[in-house]
Amino acid sequence: MSLNRILLIGASGNLGSLILNHLISSPSGFQVIVLSRESSKATFPQDKRLEIRRVGDDYPPDGLQAAFRDADAVISAISMAGMHQQYKFIDAAIAAGVKRYFPTEFGLDDLPDWLVELRPMFRIKHDVRDYLAAKYAEKGQQGLEWTEIVCNVFFEMGVMSGFFQFDWSSRTATLIDGGDAKWVVTTLDTVALAVVRALEKPEVTKNRLLLVQDFRTSQREILDAIEQRTREKWGVRHVQYAPWLEEVKNLVRRGDESALPKLTFATVVPGSRWEDREEFANRLLGLPTKSFDEAMDAALKNVV
Ligand SMILES: NC(=O)c1ccc[n+]([C@@H]2O[C@H](COP(=O)([O-])OP(=O)(O)OC[C@H]3O[C@@H](n4cnc5c(N)ncnc54)[C@H](OP(=O)(O)O)[C@@H]3O)[C@@H](O)[C@H]2O)c1
Repeated sequence: MSLNRILLIGASGNLGSLILNHLISSPSGFQVIVLSRESSKATFPQDKRLEIRRVGDDYPPDGLQAAFRDADAVISAISMAGMHQQYKFIDAAIAAGVKRYFPTEFGLDDLPDWLVELRPMFRIKHDVRDYLAAKYAEKGQQGLEWTEIVCNVFFEMGVMSGFFQFDWSSRTATLIDGGDAKWVVTTLDTVALAVVRALEKPEVTKNRLLLVQDFRTSQREILDAIEQRTREKWGVRHVQYAPWLEEVKNLVRRGDESALPKLTFATVVPGSRWEDREEFANRLLGLPTKSFDEAMDAALKNVV
């Protein structure tokens, strides 16, 4: 089986735009269909391999089915805010005879109960995994296959947005338990390439969750690299994980939405290691990875 006609939802987004670039430039010669909302102001590159289709903003089932009619694979890179629309995408993909679906995963693997309780949106990601598996089980070999790309945190967004607890306005870092724990990170470009590599190897990526990464790093390593590259000394606030997390949970319980990224980072900062896990797929995908220095230089390109 090969997947040649690829429909991409969210192609104007942070990640989707990079998936689109890799699809268009792939030597595999994919035919690419972008599905964008009617009200979207997004623009897309002119390319003979690319067709743009529009659908109503609430993604009506008949509109989706018509849009998916000739697609071999549907990739959802829709934003968090649109994630709940995916049950419709999956039903329409099945009705239209699509072979493979990639959900808008692209993040954390394990979700602690307290995260799902305090940030229920995350539950949708795992519910969609279950929905895909159940739908495939209903039809067996004729069912809609799925591939899920899980990458932990986007490196460059984490550095610059403050997600890794670096406050760029005051040049202050909050280091949790000394900042030495190492966790998995992936640059957006590598995530996008992983999607395309998975499409190019449909048999080995069928009905699988694939863990991908560029490298592991820590708050301390990132802080040292920022100070070295910007030639600025940052202030450091030291906190202990357990009381810091409790404080963040309380802020979220009181409705402070600005604490939500901290809550998510709290699932990351205790550390992670994927290389020894069965789902680790860098090798399977032949995924070229970026070094810490390369990724750091790119992340800081607008500040140094
Ligand atoms: N691991 C991480 O650190 C990390 C960080 C950020 C995001 N993510 C994940 O990556 C995936 C893609 O996120 P992203 O940041 O690339 O998405 P994004 O840029 O916010 O949005 C992607 C596209 O979704 C479409 N869309 C549909 N409904 C929407 C709505 N209600 N609001 C906004 N956009 C809507 C838009 O496309 P059209 O305008 O063309 O219709 C938009 O360009 C998500 O699963 C997200 O959870 C992971």
